[in-house]
Amino acid sequence: MNVAAATPEYICTRIAGELATVGWSVCADFLPPEQIAALAGELRARWVQGEFHQAGVGSGANPHLRQDIRNDRVYWLDDAAQTAAQSPYFIALESLRLALNRQLFLGLFSFEGHMAAYPPGSFYARHLDQFQGVAHRKVSVVLYLNNDWQADDGGQLRLYLQENNAEKYIDVLPCGGTLACFLSDRFYHEVLSATRERLSVTGWFRVRV
Ligand code: OGA
Ligand code: MN
Repeated sequence: MNVAAATPEYICTRIAGELATVGWSVCADFLPPEQIAALAGELRARWVQGEFHQAGVGSGANPHLRQDIRNDRVYWLDDAAQTAAQSPYFIALESLRLALNRQLFLGLFSFEGHMAAYPPGSFYARHLDQFQGVAHRKVSVVLYLNNDWQADDGGQLRLYLQENNAEKYIDVLPCGGTLACFLSDRFYHEVLSATRERLSVTGWFRVRV
């Protein structure tokens, strides 16, 4: 890995500052295009090899399938078995974790995440990431892997800024290299359906339980 290409510290400091003030942050070009392309290439190869499975809802030993709530497909990452394509992202996430701990005093301890593929027409209905049984998830982090995404492709991450106001939201386009982060216990959000395949790496910084 080329150390000079690592995500600069000031970017992580800025993201952490935004989480400390408004609770969310969207950062374009969090990783350079060649690293995004490598992650997308790995995702597609795993897809072809049949390594993705239908995502569940809930946690613990028995997450259940609810295709009326979400119908994306996921491949869980194992940071102890990082591939060459994954390691720049894990390095950047570690800088971000340290910045968040410095500025938000959250005591974030580890990261869990998966690659996600939303085939055309799939979606994830409005939800909170800290559903019952996963209070250890503190910060949600989504990195998008899509080339040339346009607004009329759909697939926006819709982040509701107030719990009881469906009109107050921001839409994030899932453009390659964009990183969206938010406090997991505060922000309801949904993934709108897209007219094309939508690829991402989604994860959570966790506290020790
Ligand atoms: C999730 C999720 C958002 C996105 O996987 O919990 O909300 O933009 N993903 O992919
Ligand atoms: Mn979510």
